[in-house]
Amino acid sequence: MSKIIEDMSWLRVRTHDVSKVLKSSEGEYVRLLGWIASKRMIGNIVFCLIRDGSGFIQVAGKKGVTDENALDAMKRVSLESAVMVGGLIRDDKRAPKGKELSVKEFQIISLAEKWPITKSAIKSPSFLYDNRHLSIRGRKARSILRIRSELIYSSIEFFTKQGFFLINAPTLVQSACEGGATLFNLDYFGKIAYLTQSAQLYEEAAICSFEKVFVLQPAFRAEKSKTAKHLTEFWMLEAEQAFATHDDIMKLEEELVSYITNSVVEKCFEEFEIIGRKFSPPSAPFPKITYDEARNIAMSKGIEFEWGEDIPTEAENIISKNFEKPFFITGYPISARSFYHMADPRDERVTLSSDLMTPEGYGEIATGGQRIHDYNTLMERLRKQDLPTESFSWYLDLRRYGLPPHSGFGIGIERLVRWVCGLKHIRATTLFPRTITRINP
Ligand code: 4AD
Ligand code: MG
Repeated sequence: MSKIIEDMSWLRVRTHDVSKVLKSSEGEYVRLLGWIASKRMIGNIVFCLIRDGSGFIQVAGKKGVTDENALDAMKRVSLESAVMVGGLIRDDKRAPKGKELSVKEFQIISLAEKWPITKSAIKSPSFLYDNRHLSIRGRKARSILRIRSELIYSSIEFFTKQGFFLINAPTLVQSACEGGATLFNLDYFGKIAYLTQSAQLYEEAAICSFEKVFVLQPAFRAEKSKTAKHLTEFWMLEAEQAFATHDDIMKLEEELVSYITNSVVEKCFEEFEIIGRKFSPPSAPFPKITYDEARNIAMSKGIEFEWGEDIPTEAENIISKNFEKPFFITGYPISARSFYHMADPRDERVTLSSDLMTPEGYGEIATGGQRIHDYNTLMERLRKQDLPTESFSWYLDLRRYGLPPHSGFGIGIERLVRWVCGLKHIRATTLFPRTITRINP
């Protein structure tokens, strides 16, 4: 068992952040709280790499400089133990970032047992995910999660600057947004309920109050297939706007993606280096192709599918390799879309909707379009698709009380992070991934 020290005096000392300490001048005395990320002994000198929430710094303990008890503790301390360390900042070209802490005080706050994540123990990626509660301390995992955090933070900034109102929608629902095949059912005091697939229907109610809204919350899909881009629980960023057309929404999507990718590249320069990703933020506008054009590209590469079917993943991946920046596929057939999509008045067989695709084979990251705002048209569509009109009664009701033409979209945070970070598998984009085969830790 790890040992929590009795002496809590470290709680009262003023401590510093590693990222700030790395900017301090030589001779400054600082104290840090953090974890032992690595340790080595060269002769009589003990070197530890200390990690806190903001970064890494090398600290060195040496007889004559470091207090005797402190040096003892440094020799004893194990990987990933939590510690308090104090000493003088020195410039040293050999140290990472050119700074080193010459240790005077060193206190073990929580001694770790032998760290189980070693190179020889990692026999498959699933080992790292079985131990995700520990492996998230690794440099690569931290960098990806930091990039994710910045993308989310800048999305909120973007929508706020654009005058959108942040709402929260329920996660326990009875009206299914994206079809029955991927619903998680649950018993709700004797009635059937589902985990939400999307907040869209609730956003559509909220726009009559706030006009422009956005939501960031988990979405659930009982995805039966094991793929590199599907999770069963993921986070979706959705926006809905009254009096807006499908074209307005594509423009909003372009501006969002360009804003947040520019922002993340600026803020997470180091993280991109750690994960080895060369990422260039795309500038708006993004190219647009139609469903028919996308189908022709797929067929020219030997992937056949019937007109009216959704574009299969393998086709999506091949098409997306033809592009250098994100692009839209527009004009999806009614039969490939959910019930709420508005038909294109120029060709009633297709919808006023699009998928935002990413290049390099990463595929779809967002879906958006114009919604049906007319009561009778929606009623007819629900009936044609054999959907239970009772569970959509409130959603239909909106169409009786001044719902104007409106459009919106939803972007999957994990799909976005996967593309931005250039990751093989979507599970690396989230703290504790949920897939068909994983619900633990
Ligand atoms: O394309 P989807 O199903 O569209 C909707 O849910 C709309 N109601 C959104 C809206 O218009 N407000 O899902 C939107 C996005 C996808 O493009 C994808 O990025 C992500 O959510 N997504 C998933 N991400 C990870 N795992 C899954 N199983 C996902 N399913 C959808
Ligand atoms: Mg979609």
